[in-house]
Amino acid sequence: MNYGPISRKIPKMIHGGDYNPDQWIHYEGIWDEDFRLMDLAHVNVMTIGIFSWSSLEPEEGRFDFSWMDQIMDRLAAEGKYAILATPSGARPAWLSQKYPQVLRTNADRTKNLHGERHNHCFTAPIYREKTQHINTELANRYKDHPALIAWHISNEFSGECHCDLCQDAFRNWLKKKYNNDLEQLNHAWWTSFWSHIYTDWDQIQAPSTNGERSVHGLTLDWKRFVTDQTIDFMENEMKPLRELTPELPITTNFMGIFEGLNYWKMARSLDVVSWDSYPMWHHASTGHVNIALETAFLHDLNRSLKGGKPFMLMESTPSVTNWQSVSKLKRPGMHLLASLQAIAHGSDTVQYFQWRKSRGSVEKFHGAVIDHCGHEDTRVFKDVSEVGKALEKLDDIIGTSVKPEVAIIYDWENRWGIEDTRGFNNAAKKYPETVIKHYSGFWKKGVAVDIIDMEQSLSQYKVLVAPMLYMLRGDIAKRIEAFVKDGGTFVATYLSGMVNENDLCFLGGFPGPLRNVLGVWTEETDSLHPEEFNEVNVHIEALNGKTYKVVDMCDMIHLETARSLATYASDFYAGQPALTVNKFGEGQAYYIAFRNNQDFEEEFYGHLIQELQLKPVLEARLPEGVSIQTRYDENNTFIFIMNFTEKTQSLDIGSVDMENILENISEHGKISIEGYGIKIYKK
Ligand code: GLA
Ligand code: ZN
Repeated sequence: MNYGPISRKIPKMIHGGDYNPDQWIHYEGIWDEDFRLMDLAHVNVMTIGIFSWSSLEPEEGRFDFSWMDQIMDRLAAEGKYAILATPSGARPAWLSQKYPQVLRTNADRTKNLHGERHNHCFTAPIYREKTQHINTELANRYKDHPALIAWHISNEFSGECHCDLCQDAFRNWLKKKYNNDLEQLNHAWWTSFWSHIYTDWDQIQAPSTNGERSVHGLTLDWKRFVTDQTIDFMENEMKPLRELTPELPITTNFMGIFEGLNYWKMARSLDVVSWDSYPMWHHASTGHVNIALETAFLHDLNRSLKGGKPFMLMESTPSVTNWQSVSKLKRPGMHLLASLQAIAHGSDTVQYFQWRKSRGSVEKFHGAVIDHCGHEDTRVFKDVSEVGKALEKLDDIIGTSVKPEVAIIYDWENRWGIEDTRGFNNAAKKYPETVIKHYSGFWKKGVAVDIIDMEQSLSQYKVLVAPMLYMLRGDIAKRIEAFVKDGGTFVATYLSGMVNENDLCFLGGFPGPLRNVLGVWTEETDSLHPEEFNEVNVHIEALNGKTYKVVDMCDMIHLETARSLATYASDFYAGQPALTVNKFGEGQAYYIAFRNNQDFEEEFYGHLIQELQLKPVLEARLPEGVSIQTRYDENNTFIFIMNFTEKTQSLDIGSVDMENILENISEHGKISIEGYGIKIYKK
């Protein structure tokens, strides 16, 4: 299927960025220059107003849209478009001065002074009223404006407020969840531990750095509440926009796997997902390939958040950031490659923070399309217009997606549970890293993957991988059983099936409700110091009887109905099973009892890919650091081949001629792709 363009007004790949013309009101001629340079940069959509509240409403109730009117009209006149942001991410000083209620209270219960951004109370009725008011003004004013194509709510929602209003809202949230029954809450939170039984709702306080931190049910519920309250705040902002511009899509910009908010829940309120991507390209110790891998995972996550619907790369830097510890320039080729990597994984936009470098304040040295020199004769500007020109050739890709046969679970609540827990290897929990390591097994072979949480449907997949599925919520165990029974292949690892949604341990043996499908019982988990390792000897032929290093954590398991495929090599558990498979119904379930920091996942999944005949995009053997992704609809298939190494690589793309749409030539057979090069083929 094809999802269509993000906005029907502009059936083009979107190229643009955060544009702050209000910073330059007193600089004559700058706006003319901006518009001249927009054409040269091949940009078509600007995002405006993100942090413009104090210029749009300089005094309470007095609005001044004059600069925005001019910019919107000019965009429309020049055939360009606008994404309009709501300004709640940073508020005017008069608002904090008059209504201190809007200031955020920190976890230690100190109240912030006015300043910075992203630091309001999500509950304060006056902030909700004020944000809704200015949003209504914006929507009323621009609802029929030909330039307006979408709304960008606030900016990078994050953080939590611990003021009395938020504490009350939290208690009300708990009352609803626990049916007004403190006893239910006391049981769910296991409060008989350390004499923590609550006898009055008002005794409950949000977790604090100088208060309660040890009741895991409380910390989990607080995090759930923070997500819900952020959504509630966001929906309050969205209300007038939905009423006045029902046809316009709404998004807010996410931050990868930002820990504080469950994006699966937030995405439900949005029409399109967008995110801000700032990989540390060329980081010497991480290595090119690992950075490309992590970024690929994050793009796939964002595509998956709305079930495969194309997302927006809302922010990326045309050159450097100014907040990473080392602001390293993108090497020639990397800007185009990184931008099109997003497209390869399902983005229909390449947008930047920021269009023009600000003259002052903290972000004046953050990369931008236009530097302080003010003209187009720069390396970065040329890189940006190269991306613009490339995107103009990719209109047929708009709205296409991918339907992977593999899903990997990355679940926010599971992550919160793992972060909270004390025990095993506290120094090396590494949940996100582990998920990405498993993902790499498919990425390196060019097999597409969806990233899901444990609430998504499983039925469309052949393989389900759930690294460190410590927490089992809802009916996930039942659905995994049904999935395997019907012929699916399930892969679980150490530290699985240990607690329920309240972080209460499953009684009767781990991996709890997954014990049946996995056919093993986990008796103990050993943790290793950084300088220690064990080994596993693999007995399956496909892995050549190889030996792999065991690091950080490994489970001691007993076979029930499963069969052993590998054993530990040393220590008191030498000879015990380390990798198992269990036939279950029509399918099979693997248990990987150990962590490995080498190429086990790559080889193990390579074996599964072959055994299950999963379809890679191309039958080609991929050189190290070369990634292949695909997007398609019923009419076309697009193949992206990306070289994330510095050196020229070659591979065989098969005997059928394909159209290389960036270079406008046909190719088949052995092709070569230069360092940081990208090729896009239409099949
Ligand atoms: C975030 C913000 C932007 C800007 C960039 C800098 O993504 O949304 O306003 O501060 O970081 O990288
Ligand atoms: Zn608050």
